Amino acid sequence: MSAHSHKAIGVLDSGVGGLTVVREIQRQLPHEGIVYFGDTARMPYGPRPYEEVRRFALEIIDFLISQEIKMVVVACNSATAAGITHYQKQCPFPVLGVIEPGVRAAIAHTRNNKVGVIGTTGTINSSAYKKALLREKADLQVVDRACPLFVLLVENNLVDTREALLVAEEYLQPFKKAGVDTLILGCTHYPLMAGLIQQVVGPGVKLISSAEETAAEVKAILTATNLHNPLRSSNPGYRFFVSGSPKPFEEIGTKLLRQPVKAYQVLLNN
Ligand code: DGL
Repeated sequence: MSAHSHKAIGVLDSGVGGLTVVREIQRQLPHEGIVYFGDTARMPYGPRPYEEVRRFALEIIDFLISQEIKMVVVACNSATAAGITHYQKQCPFPVLGVIEPGVRAAIAHTRNNKVGVIGTTGTINSSAYKKALLREKADLQVVDRACPLFVLLVENNLVDTREALLVAEEYLQPFKKAGVDTLILGCTHYPLMAGLIQQVVGPGVKLISSAEETAAEVKAILTATNLHNPLRSSNPGYRFFVSGSPKPFEEIGTKLLRQPVKAYQVLLNN
């Protein structure tokens, strides 16, 4: 146990999507407190320039530090792609992004060495996944594609529509053609439409949710650094902050986490 063990895990995302990571941390680490920041006033991050996303993320990390945290999870693929090493340099504690955990899981799973990646425009254009995959395993065949409409489908509750099916069929065609056996859901929102994606790519393709893999890595980091919360409370305390209006966030959060979510608005500088 360290002097910081009782502190919370800081989690940031551009909006509600990072709650998929919170849900997994809650499942795998039920005794850990969480401070979450959703930058709902400035989302989506996907189409924004990297410098801007980086500036937003650093600003949020400053806020999280003021809330007494012991580590940061950048639960946003676009923010991770924009500059995870910058955030790591800035912080005196562990900072984990969502890309590396998904990459490791995909490599562990693929049998035919053909891995697909889907994400926002920013994430795919950065090639952060492709580079990380090839760094770990140079002989992989990586197929990647930006699927910008997927975030809108999830945000607008349109996943179960015929339009969503048509969009998914068009976006996912190259992965079927290439015969990937593993597909990384490289965006926080995509686990929320995993059923549709699986239906389109077929049961033979393993979907890698970065949320699940990231939570497992958070657990490993807390163990390695002796930072597990010593209190075995079943109600470790979650605090949610947003830059936009709390109400829509609270509604989605309550549904997603299956517990009442109360969010507070924090006005950021930019
Ligand atoms: N959180 C973002 C990500 O994982 C998706 C939403 C956005 O574009 O802000 O890339």
